[in-house]
Amino acid sequence: MKFLHDFMNMKSNGEKMTMLTAYDYPSAKQAEQAGIETILVGDSLGMTVLGYESTVQVTMQDMKHHAKAVRRGARDTFMVVDMPFGTVGVDDKTDMENAVELYQETNANALKMEGAHTAPLIKRCTQSGIPVAAHLGLTPQSFGITGYKLQAASKEAAEELIADAKLMEQSGAVMLVLEAIPSDLAATITKTLSIPVIGIGAGADTDGQVLVYHDVLNYGVDRKPKFVKRYGDFTTGVDALKAYHEEVKAGLFPSPEFTYKKQIMDEVDA
Ligand code: KIV
Repeated sequence: MKFLHDFMNMKSNGEKMTMLTAYDYPSAKQAEQAGIETILVGDSLGMTVLGYESTVQVTMQDMKHHAKAVRRGARDTFMVVDMPFGTVGVDDKTDMENAVELYQETNANALKMEGAHTAPLIKRCTQSGIPVAAHLGLTPQSFGITGYKLQAASKEAAEELIADAKLMEQSGAVMLVLEAIPSDLAATITKTLSIPVIGIGAGADTDGQVLVYHDVLNYGVDRKPKFVKRYGDFTTGVDALKAYHEEVKAGLFPSPEFTYKKQIMDEVDA
């Protein structure tokens, strides 16, 4: 497993890092087999695997359930788990209890928190030994306020984002995820910070990239944001399922090769 010092070395050596979301045992196994360095159990699981409308519906229970399955599938990959909506920014005591619960029960290597307002919690977690990845730019838990669109697109907003990014590092964040911001701004933040910066819709000059498993594989997703590249196509699974359905209807499945040969009825009084 790669650890934080490895990620720092990769940044200094200019070696790009890969992060991919995973939400269950098989996707985690695949990510590990593919050599992905960091798995993010993102609260995007709300949309990708639970069919919610946004990440806002995702609960602590959801995150724990999925993160535990991911850990079982990828025991040797650095795993970051999202703090879900409503578990940060309650009050100091509750925030910290939530962070400890998620970190301890999922056996995560780090937690991820959205927004600059998490700075005090990042500081307390760091002091208590919990590594935290910060997430700025488009923070989907706040879509009700920001919408899903390019962030930091004005001079003032870009300057604010640079200040927030520095605050995240000063607060102890071990890495920073930047989502949907202009690529030159992401490049500047990446150069300014000493911690690894992972981008999604933030251009090619961050220290690494993160994508959502279901977007990469075109698996059950309806929309494709501009920054998503498809590397596979799981929609072909529907053809396989249709073939199964049709073969059963036609009496073609199960054929003898899929049937146990042992005959028992000669011995049975029926
Ligand atoms: O939840 C998630 O998948 C994320 C990534 C988009 C960075 O936060």
